Amino acid sequence: TSVTFNEPHRPQFHFTPPSGWMNDPNGMVYHNGEYHLFYQHNPDSTVWGPMHWGHAVSKDMVSWEHLPIALYPDSLGTIFSGSAVVDVKNTSGLGTANNPAMVAIYTYHDAEGEKAGRDDFQTQGIAFSLDNGRSWKKYEANPVLKNPGIRDFRDPKVMWYEAGQKWIMTLAVKDHISFYSSPNLLDWKLESDFGANVGAHGGVWECPDLFKLKVAGTEEEKWVLIVNINPGAPNGGSGTQYFLGSFDGNKFVMDPQFEASLNTKPAIATTVNGQEGIWLDYGRDEYAGVTWENVPEQDGRRLFMGWMSNWAYANVVPTEKWRSAMTVARTLELVNTPAGLRVASMPVKELQHIYGATHDLEGQDVTGALAISEGAPFSTPTFDLQLELERLSTGGQFAVELSNAKGQKVLVGYDAARGQYYIDRRNAGSNSFSDDFAGIHYAPRLASDASFPVRLLVDVASVEFFADGGKTVMTDIFFPDEPFTNVRLITEKGQYRLKSGKLTELKSIYN
Ligand code: FRU
Repeated sequence: TSVTFNEPHRPQFHFTPPSGWMNDPNGMVYHNGEYHLFYQHNPDSTVWGPMHWGHAVSKDMVSWEHLPIALYPDSLGTIFSGSAVVDVKNTSGLGTANNPAMVAIYTYHDAEGEKAGRDDFQTQGIAFSLDNGRSWKKYEANPVLKNPGIRDFRDPKVMWYEAGQKWIMTLAVKDHISFYSSPNLLDWKLESDFGANVGAHGGVWECPDLFKLKVAGTEEEKWVLIVNINPGAPNGGSGTQYFLGSFDGNKFVMDPQFEASLNTKPAIATTVNGQEGIWLDYGRDEYAGVTWENVPEQDGRRLFMGWMSNWAYANVVPTEKWRSAMTVARTLELVNTPAGLRVASMPVKELQHIYGATHDLEGQDVTGALAISEGAPFSTPTFDLQLELERLSTGGQFAVELSNAKGQKVLVGYDAARGQYYIDRRNAGSNSFSDDFAGIHYAPRLASDASFPVRLLVDVASVEFFADGGKTVMTDIFFPDEPFTNVRLITEKGQYRLKSGKLTELKSIYN
């Protein structure tokens, strides 16, 4: 049976594998004009199994060219998550001064060792490419980092630490992060541990990331430490938490203000379902998200992408040829909020490359419902909806309703009593595949003014919701029997003024 990219529930502007299973994005690195995306892949089945690294490249992080599988399992194990760098100074000697190696640093998972009852079955290995990632060689002396006897020891994210002229590996070790350093990507030494007693600990720590970000509008820099965790996310299952602080090549130290906001209850409602932690995306379907390495300094952006699913049900969602998609690529920024400094994310501007017709919405007061799709007829279930709402009466709530002719719907809105945003997918179509799928998911609002700028990216099987300039982000997937092409803005218990709004159709990346 052939792949058409047109199958039921196939996303039209999100990355999916042509066939087979996919989970985490891996090895995201920019090199010679291409954004590389590798991914956890089981080519032989649509459920998780022996992991390979699938591979694709893009010039804009929107349209993708699928390439052959980059890394296959070998005698040391299957290939779990990890990262990639370009060894510009040829510190490893694996490339040359003129043709630096692209180096992938990944976890070997030795399933046989696990079965045999050993604890040291996860180690770190490397592979390299001298032809822009088209062909790969495993390093002959793998593993480069052995396991000290800890069952969860994985997902190395490596970066060049300029101030200390060395590589730093951020590694997820069960319930904490270990930082390792290396002069050459081959020999690694432990620098320090972080996090056993802070943040969310409802599950295993996985897929970390460490990078600098400028505080928006200033020259001040902070270090962001991303720690994915499964389970233990605020709306259940898998999620992406983060910490803000400083890093000196040896230790990560949390910002006092950030640490305080983890431990105290701020005036603004930042706790969702009683869960600890501060999260990059509060929806149920952004996981294992990390950022691109080696993006040119002139570009200046920190670019992020996550897996658009949740381990709570990822293996049983109703697609047949493939399973799972990635989020859109997003730009991360450090911004001030009433709760303190926070990481905001917004879709990359390159999304414009698939913009179709734009329908402007007239400014107006909304009491009850506004039929957006009637005023602006459009033909695709894929669009970018941007609204600027102003609350005219306290207690007022609003929701964007996405629905189809079968009465199936998703609501994306603001619950004034909680002071929180939400996505309600209880009646979004097929959900009997898991008891843990249907539900309402909440996220704190990190702004307190009467103005609500909101943006929804809607694809065939997902919505990504960016509120208040990306201070609150939620990603949820769904499986309606027919695509959602009806859009309404609904207000309750008060009035909102639609100051401005536009719906832009998004073209399929396959045409
Ligand atoms: C996260 C994860 C990683 C691991 C990979 C295995 O989703 O569990 O920790 O490396 O998936 O596929």
